[in-house]
Amino acid sequence: MRADELIRKLSRNHQLNKEEWICLFENRSEQSDRLLWKLADEVRRAHFGNKVYKRGLIEFTNYCKNDCYYCGIRRSNVAASRYRLSEEDILSCCKEGYRLGFRTFVLQGGEDGAYQEADIVRLVSAIRKNYPDCAITLSIGEWDRSSYQKFFDAGANRYLLRHETANKAHYEKLHPESMSFENRMRCLADLKEIGYQVGCGFMVGSPYQTSETLAEDFMFIQEFRPAMVGIGPFVPHHDTPFKDETKGTVSLTLFCIGLLRLTLPYGLIPATTALGTISPTGREQGIQCGANVVMPNLSPGTVREKYELYDNKICTGEEAAECASCLEQRMESIGYEIVVDRGDSPLIQMEAKT
Ligand code: 5AD
Ligand code: FES
Repeated sequence: MRADELIRKLSRNHQLNKEEWICLFENRSEQSDRLLWKLADEVRRAHFGNKVYKRGLIEFTNYCKNDCYYCGIRRSNVAASRYRLSEEDILSCCKEGYRLGFRTFVLQGGEDGAYQEADIVRLVSAIRKNYPDCAITLSIGEWDRSSYQKFFDAGANRYLLRHETANKAHYEKLHPESMSFENRMRCLADLKEIGYQVGCGFMVGSPYQTSETLAEDFMFIQEFRPAMVGIGPFVPHHDTPFKDETKGTVSLTLFCIGLLRLTLPYGLIPATTALGTISPTGREQGIQCGANVVMPNLSPGTVREKYELYDNKICTGEEAAECASCLEQRMESIGYEIVVDRGDSPLIQMEAKT
C-alpha cells in the first residue's frame, strides 16, 4: 500500500499492523508527510481546539545510578556536576509555577539512590497538601510496584517513563546489562494498573533504530494506549559512548508526532525541548504537526545547565517566568493558546463519566 493510503487507514482505524508500519516508514514522501500533518492537525483541533497545555518541569536531581549510553547524566560521566534540590527548593519552584499559571508539576530526576521511597512519599504529600488543585507527575524511573502504589496513594496522578524502544535487542544496545527491557515494561504495566495516567515514549533517530524498531514502538503504543507519549530527537552528548552518533532529524520527529496523533486522537503529546534544541522553531512545528503540550522549565536558574541530558539543550539560561512567557509568545505566534488547566487526559474524564 502507498504511504498516503496507510496514513488514511491509520486515521480511520487508529492502528496498523507491523508490516504496514514498516512500509509507512520506508515509503514516506513529501506529499504523504503533508497529508499526515494536515490530518493530525485536524484531529488535534477537533478534540483540543487551539488549546495547548503546559506542564512545569522541575528537574530536582541529576544524580543517577544508571548508565544509559545516550544520556549525559549517566553514572559514568564524571564530568557532570551533580546537584540535588532540597524539598524547600522544590516547593518554591511549585509556588512560582502556580503563580505563573501552572496546574501540573512534573518532578523529573535521575535515578538518584539517595532518595528512598519515604522521601518521595513525603515530597509528593507536601505538594499535594499545598496544591490540591494541581496534578503531580513523577518522572523518576524504575521502582517496585509497591513504591509506585505508595507514591500514587500520596497524591501523584501521572507518571512518565519512556519505554525508549519496544524492541528488546535494540533496548540492549542503548543500555548496559544492568538494565532490563522486561523490567521497563513491567514498570509501565504496573503504573497503568495502579491508575496513573501513564506516559511512555522514545527518542527519534536513536542509534540502531530502524523502520522495524519504530514499527514496534507504534505497535506497542497502539496496544498499551498510554495517556501521554513523549518523543524527541536523539541528540548526542559529548561525554557519552554515543558522542559520535548522528542526531535524529526534525522531519522524522515531526512525522512520528503526526503518527502519534492519529494513533491516539486524545493523546497528550508534548513538543519537547529536544525538538526545540535541534531547530529554533522545533516546538512550534511540533504543535502544528499534532502535539498539544509544552513543558517549560521551572527549575532554578542555578542548576539548569547541569541537567544536561544532551548537548546544547535550550532554556538553560532562563528563569521560570522567562521560559513560560517565551513559550506563550511562541504559541501565540502560530495561533495557539496556552491554558491554565491541569490538562488531564480526556480519556480519564470520559471513563469517569461512564
Ligand atoms: N538525546 C535525546 N533525548 C535524551 N534522553 C536522554 N538522553 C537523551 C539524548 N542524548 C531522553 C530519554 C529519557 C528522557 C528523560 O530524555 O528518552 O527517557
Ligand atoms: Fe525556555 Fe524559550 S521556552 S526560554
